[in-house]
Amino acid sequence: MKDGYMKFVHSGAGRVIAKTLGLPIPAKLRRKGAPSTLGPVLIGGGELTGLLQSQVAELGYQLGSTPKQKVHALVFDATSIKTPGELANLYRFFRQNIRRMDRCGRALVISRPPEDCDSPEQHIAMRALRGFIRSLGKEMRAGGTSQLIELSAGAEQNLPSTLSFCLSPVSAYVSAQTIRVNAVELAETADPKAPLAGQTVLVTGAARGIGRAIAETVASYGAMVIGVDVPPMQGELDKVCRDIGGRALPLDICADDAAALICEAARANGGLDCIVHNAGITRDKSLAAMSDVQWDLTMAVNLQAPLTINAALLEAGLINDGGRIVGVASISGIAGNKGQTNYAASKAGVIGMVERYSSVLSAQSISVNAVAPGFIETEMTAKIPFGIRQAGRRMSSLQQGGLPVDVAQTVAWLANPQSIGVTGNVVRVCGQNLLGA
Ligand SMILES: NC(=O)c1ccc[n+]([C@@H]2O[C@H](COP(=O)([O-])OP(=O)(O)OC[C@H]3O[C@@H](n4cnc5c(N)ncnc54)[C@H](O)[C@@H]3O)[C@@H](O)[C@H]2O)c1
Repeated sequence: MKDGYMKFVHSGAGRVIAKTLGLPIPAKLRRKGAPSTLGPVLIGGGELTGLLQSQVAELGYQLGSTPKQKVHALVFDATSIKTPGELANLYRFFRQNIRRMDRCGRALVISRPPEDCDSPEQHIAMRALRGFIRSLGKEMRAGGTSQLIELSAGAEQNLPSTLSFCLSPVSAYVSAQTIRVNAVELAETADPKAPLAGQTVLVTGAARGIGRAIAETVASYGAMVIGVDVPPMQGELDKVCRDIGGRALPLDICADDAAALICEAARANGGLDCIVHNAGITRDKSLAAMSDVQWDLTMAVNLQAPLTINAALLEAGLINDGGRIVGVASISGIAGNKGQTNYAASKAGVIGMVERYSSVLSAQSISVNAVAPGFIETEMTAKIPFGIRQAGRRMSSLQQGGLPVDVAQTVAWLANPQSIGVTGNVVRVCGQNLLGA
């Protein structure tokens, strides 16, 4: 679905009218593949500055800049801040440099998880950063984003995949997120261009929309994809899987034999390295008017099926050590939404799955995370009435809907074996939507 308003305000006359009337002019986001080189990265702050410089340089970014040069990113190491008073160092760094940011710039703060801090003062200072980063996200201009990475002590080697995601155009529609990175032993460094080479990734709901984008994106990073979708979608599913050299597995994830068939496919491929529970449905109705079928079906597809499939795979040992489980929640599961008691409950349940299983499965070094998309341009959101659809797009800091590829790139980062230290996170892909903010 095209965003006609966006097209209009980027036309000559449309821009003049929008400016005159004070209407929003959403920035054109820079996404992966855009033909432009990114400017330098400025790094400031505490003890990890040297390490950050070498990791950022390793990712291919230029460090430092001339005073008049636009910068792509500002990165501040706040791990050395011990008291709320010392937050002034962070303030000064961003205050001095924020106007120098290029379009689609990145503001990034590295901190410690508050609950890991020994002193109350440091705990409080680290907690304060979450408010800072959320407000900064709302002040970023021209498609800029901000993120907070809470890095556990000793997790420095786990940082690069997340640093790479946050700095790069692949995180175009992710903003104001707090991402926790733990210390977990890493497998050998993969080819950065094909971090998923040799990995088997199963994606449910892969025939269209976000699931299709996830299948295509993880395949583009080298994964062998097993795509699942309902039998009536087999034509579309076969095409997606054929195009990416994957394998189609047409089945309804709620069917009695679904978990057994998925286990069979996983076994035939040496187990799964990653499963992405993307298949989802809406059956919107106010609670008073909702039928049992609308409630039951939504809960069955969105929540019960992922739980049943996970249990079967784990019991059979078919999620390989170091594997990743990625759920697809929704901001509706965070904020709630009128007419979506069933959907919001199912998606909040997906968040519960992340909370519970991330700690249970850490012993096997299996990470469990979810993405929570906001308004993404798909056939699901094309069904929303016109006025609500327009409001849904504009009610975010980036003032526009996201694309399936934005969710897919976020999933690909969580599916990367080098991201195994990222677990227990629910990462919103919503352009900092005001819902549940
Ligand atoms: N589009 C958005 O704005 C948005 C926002 C938040 C969350 N989400 C979530 O993202 C996921 C994908 O959404 P989308 O917009 O691409 O939806 P979509 O309707 O375009 O695609 C969903 C896919 O899942 C498949 N599917 C549905 N039930 C299934 C079942 N029982 N077994 C196997 N496959 C099944 C469908 O056939 C379809 O191919 C869903 O979980 C959705 O709740 C979407």
